[in-house]
Amino acid sequence: MMKTIRVMTPSKEYDALVGEGLVDMAGPEAARVRKPGKAIIVSDSTVSGLYLPRLGTSLRGAGFDTCEFVFPPGESSKNVSTLTALLNHMARRRLTRSDTVFALGGGVTGDLAGLAASLYMRGIGLVQIPTTLLSAVDSSVGGKTAIDLDEGKNLAGTFYQPDLVLCDTRTLKTLPAAEYSNGCAEIIKYAMIRDGELIEELRSPDSGKIEGIIARCIAIKADIVRADERESGARKLLNFGHTFGHAIEKCSGYGVPHGSAVAAGMALITAACFMKGLCGRDCLDGLLAALRGCGLPASTVYGEEELFEAAMGDKKRGPDGITVVVARDIGRCELHEVSAAGFREFLRLGLRWTGGGGEI
Ligand code: NAD
Ligand code: GLY
Repeated sequence: MMKTIRVMTPSKEYDALVGEGLVDMAGPEAARVRKPGKAIIVSDSTVSGLYLPRLGTSLRGAGFDTCEFVFPPGESSKNVSTLTALLNHMARRRLTRSDTVFALGGGVTGDLAGLAASLYMRGIGLVQIPTTLLSAVDSSVGGKTAIDLDEGKNLAGTFYQPDLVLCDTRTLKTLPAAEYSNGCAEIIKYAMIRDGELIEELRSPDSGKIEGIIARCIAIKADIVRADERESGARKLLNFGHTFGHAIEKCSGYGVPHGSAVAAGMALITAACFMKGLCGRDCLDGLLAALRGCGLPASTVYGEEELFEAAMGDKKRGPDGITVVVARDIGRCELHEVSAAGFREFLRLGLRWTGGGGEI
């Protein structure tokens, strides 16, 4: 059963569709919101081999004139060189403002293609077609686009909402198990900040349920982004586990994938919250069991000093301190402003409990 979530943000309203076979229906679906003109399909070389021909056929069938830009898979492509190559490719293909970028792939593709769409001629059409669980539940919706800089993760980016999100759950069938787990990390994040029952849903993995889980996550994100598109308040809740997670990614030279890093980041912060008396043992144990059940890490090999240094470069740091997303219970998180010293204390306690960084 196809599910539609209306995402209403101050800058744009659009639909996120979740269901089987949407890659093959992309042409007619996109033609409802974008006048068929030129269409550039952006994809990494793994995903392009699997789904780009079918997407191209569907788009051409609906009157789009397609071209493609394919780059090597992985976070290491989410940089200024790939962005420049993509923008130049768009210019060579003479795309105009009435044309459309189709981001076919995971979060790396969506973030990169979304940024290019927002920059090219000051903004052209954008359709997100997520093919990882992580991009389906999180990165394809909400309008954050970015590339990484040498100094840190997602440091150059824009807020730029897509015109449409098409989440074809059939594409998840080719996803490697580890990538599926990475997506579960973001689902557990939604469970921690808003909807604890998602943990129960994940516990009984029945492939028929995944559409419902994705739709629930998108609905939570849509609700939060409607209230705070540009992350001045409530949207910061979506960063639960991310400040430590981004630091882990950076320390690993982006060898640890985003989902796994966020999983370890959520374990660290929740362990620290437990030790500070901010949440109960049930909350911490529930999170750790959920992470274990999904084959996700709950600790990191990196130590306090290197994680602290890496986190200090994260954009979630303000001039006076850092906003920490604190777990109070499963389904309930809060924002706490802390100083650098206070942040270091969270890190130290989290590492001590989870046994990372050689602390115990
Ligand atoms: P990814 O895009 O690198 O995809 C992971 C791997 O899966 C890649 O090797 C890719 O080739 C492969 N793959 C993708 N779809 C496949 C399929 N259907 N079958 C087989 N293989 C497939 O990574 P990701 O985990 O999807 O996304 C992580 C990125 O998303 C990070 O850069 C992170 O910062 C970003 N992110 C952004 C937001 C946002 O709001 N914009 C939110 C969360 C994460
Ligand atoms: N992934 C965090 C956000 O979209 O705000």
